[in-house]
Amino acid sequence: MLISTKEILLDAQKNGYAVPAFNIHNLETALAVGEAALELKSPVILAATPGTFNFSGRAYIDAIIKTMAKDFQIPLTLHLDHHEKLDDIKASVELGCRSVMIDASHLSFEENIQVVKRVVDYVHGVSGTVEAELGRLGGMEDDLIVDERDSYYTNPIQAKEFVKRTGIDSLAVAIGTAHGLYKSEPKIDFDVLANIRDKVDIPLVLHGASGVPDDIIKKTIELGICKINIATELKIPFTNALREYLVGNPQETDPRKYFAPAKEAIKEIVREKILLCGSNNRA
Ligand code: 13P
Repeated sequence: MLISTKEILLDAQKNGYAVPAFNIHNLETALAVGEAALELKSPVILAATPGTFNFSGRAYIDAIIKTMAKDFQIPLTLHLDHHEKLDDIKASVELGCRSVMIDASHLSFEENIQVVKRVVDYVHGVSGTVEAELGRLGGMEDDLIVDERDSYYTNPIQAKEFVKRTGIDSLAVAIGTAHGLYKSEPKIDFDVLANIRDKVDIPLVLHGASGVPDDIIKKTIELGICKINIATELKIPFTNALREYLVGNPQETDPRKYFAPAKEAIKEIVREKILLCGSNNRA
């Protein structure tokens, strides 16, 4: 069932768990995520970046998720991840999508507020949910590449003002995670997170969760994170399983055969992450 992200996140916040948001790219990856979530009766967010929509087509991705929402009896939603252009957001909203991240974190504090507020006014007008980011994550996510030197943590005092002036429904925080793989264990500033939680009462979102040790993820959930974003940790096993199968079966030309182990590899990680987030049996 298609359900609002706001509702999903508020339930997580109230009950002290997090909902995983998995980046999907096509039918196979979306189904793998949905099937594992259904097995464990977990609400789930399927996220797609502008890069994914450019690759597969907005209407096609939208149609896949809508079909899944009809078939899968769990709260399931399509979420626009790291969108920067209002026109892109409008294109998906017109198709029926109601869950949006506007990422203006590369702008100044005041400009970020202005851009986000415009999106909030528009998306709230159709009863949608808006996530925005304050602070800046380093690393690489599709076409979004941020040098570590340009990354900075969320300022808790600014976070309070940002939430109040923009009217967003959830806040993506920068507390030491990065998009993509880590060279060494990430240094998470739990004090910053606790301080933000103290000042802001809407659900908090952790980007760049791939490669973050389980105990750290658990602690961030205890400190108020309600949505955990995972992309890289699905892409790698999907690709590895596909590669391994094709290397082992060089004559195979049937996509139904070689996508099967790749899908299964994603499902395994999705199950692990759902259990880590504690979102199982919450559907
Ligand atoms: P990772 O690729 O590090 O898991 O980050 C995902 C993310 O934050 C999507 O917005």
